[in-house]
Amino acid sequence: MAFNYISAAEAASLIKHGYNIGLSGFTPAGTAKAVTHALADIAEAEHAKGNPFQVGIFTGASTGDACDGILSRVKAIRYRAPYTTNPDFRKAVNNGEIAYNDIHLSQMAQEVRYGFMGKVNVAIIEACELTDDGKIYLTAAGGIAPTICRLADQIIVELNAAHSKSAMGLHDVYEPLDPPYRRDIPIFKPSDRIGLPYIQVDPKKIVGVVETNWPDEARSFSDADPLTDKIGQNVADFLVADMKRGIIPPSFLPLQSGVGNIANAVLGALGRDKTIPPFEMYTEVIQNSVIGLIRDGRIKFGSACSLTVTNDCLNGIYEDMDFFRDKLVLRPSEISNSPEIIRRLGVISINTAIEADIYGNVNSTHIGGTKMMNGIGGSGDFTRNAYISIFTCPSVAKEGKISAIVPMVSHEDHSEHDVNIIVTEQGVADLRGKSPKQRAEAIIENCVHPDYKNILWDYLKLTDGKSQTPHCVRAALGMHAELAKSGDMRNVDWGKF
Ligand code: COA
Repeated sequence: MAFNYISAAEAASLIKHGYNIGLSGFTPAGTAKAVTHALADIAEAEHAKGNPFQVGIFTGASTGDACDGILSRVKAIRYRAPYTTNPDFRKAVNNGEIAYNDIHLSQMAQEVRYGFMGKVNVAIIEACELTDDGKIYLTAAGGIAPTICRLADQIIVELNAAHSKSAMGLHDVYEPLDPPYRRDIPIFKPSDRIGLPYIQVDPKKIVGVVETNWPDEARSFSDADPLTDKIGQNVADFLVADMKRGIIPPSFLPLQSGVGNIANAVLGALGRDKTIPPFEMYTEVIQNSVIGLIRDGRIKFGSACSLTVTNDCLNGIYEDMDFFRDKLVLRPSEISNSPEIIRRLGVISINTAIEADIYGNVNSTHIGGTKMMNGIGGSGDFTRNAYISIFTCPSVAKEGKISAIVPMVSHEDHSEHDVNIIVTEQGVADLRGKSPKQRAEAIIENCVHPDYKNILWDYLKLTDGKSQTPHCVRAALGMHAELAKSGDMRNVDWGKF
């Protein structure tokens, strides 16, 4: 079939006020760019005329500035799900301008299928190749592309020459059936492939193809520093010790790790420690450090939803595809983050907390209990189902004015029932097999910054010390209240409670 090759502006003009648009991608990798950028111009022009113009966005995870950033700035987003990291979007959400539904990434595709969020009017899919019979070859991420392609009334393809056609074959596209017809997802090791390397759509649904040459908005991270290195080393030492005592088998278990400096430091430390054998990743995001470790033979295989790497690194993968083809697979997010597979494979999850409390509850999403930071991402998918779930964070933030360990988290994403290990630069608290009171001891003793140890021990003196989970309810958020009042949690005065 001969497709209709159109400009980004023409494609954007097919999107009407009130539509829900479904986007390919996961992180800035593989997401639509040109059409969303052009859509912002339309929204701005309509707003200037006094007309409403807003859309709903359904996607895999964060996008880039060419989508979440620019559309937030022109106030063109009515609703969005799931995770995003864009600072302008964050501002708009915390100003009450956008309805943000922060759900587990593994659930996004199925909740769109179940109809919880409304209809997908238009899907915008970034591809490195498109065939006349409707085979769409995705670029650097799986996201929810298969589902939105199937559900959308219309599909716009951004055919992006910045992604090499050698990306063809990286993907394993598989969409489970919905209950009561769902079967087991037959992945028994990270390298198993169960689907197709492309999304098959009815070519008649493709209403336009926009040719672009627009690299991903790759993120690079600041260099490792002594603090993140120490946290990374603490995680590596803990895992080696667990392997030596037989909790982790000698062949090791697949790892999931979040994005950012701490994740890089953890992977760096695991890569350097030759007592850990070459291992596999079953994760949602592959970043530069993983690619380096695959090249060094320290990581045998990486299964993920996206290649969230710098453009240099991505082009290096595309150029060396003969080497990487049997070492990488990209999956839709409901498979990369599938609770069923994470539990079956025995994944070790490593994610970052904003704050944790003395009983092991973790806040990953809200600053001060009310303001959205980014979202839960895949941290809940992995934490709840992992063989060992680990949270890392520096023991203090903002030059020590904030303790990452508090009596009670101001917002809870991961409960004490799911969190196994907490690691700061101070040390490691192993919560497995412990009661709440034993957990509090382990966390305060091993993870808390010296400035806050006595503050937390003193907090416990306000409680009856006997209950299953001892709290002084009126003081439990006292450190947060003190931060709001004086700007420094260290000034908390428990005598006032
Ligand atoms: N209270 C208030 N502010 C805090 C804080 C606390 N307890 N802890 C950290 N902060 C601030 C930091 O000071 C920093 O502020 P700045 O941007 O003004 O410098 C900001 O929050 C981010 O902290 P940082 O230490 O740089 O964290 P990060 O970049 O490693 O991100 C999360 C940490 C938790 C926000 C991030 O990992 C996240 O969004 N996680 C949820 C999703 C997830 O886990 N995905 C994993 C699967 S990929």
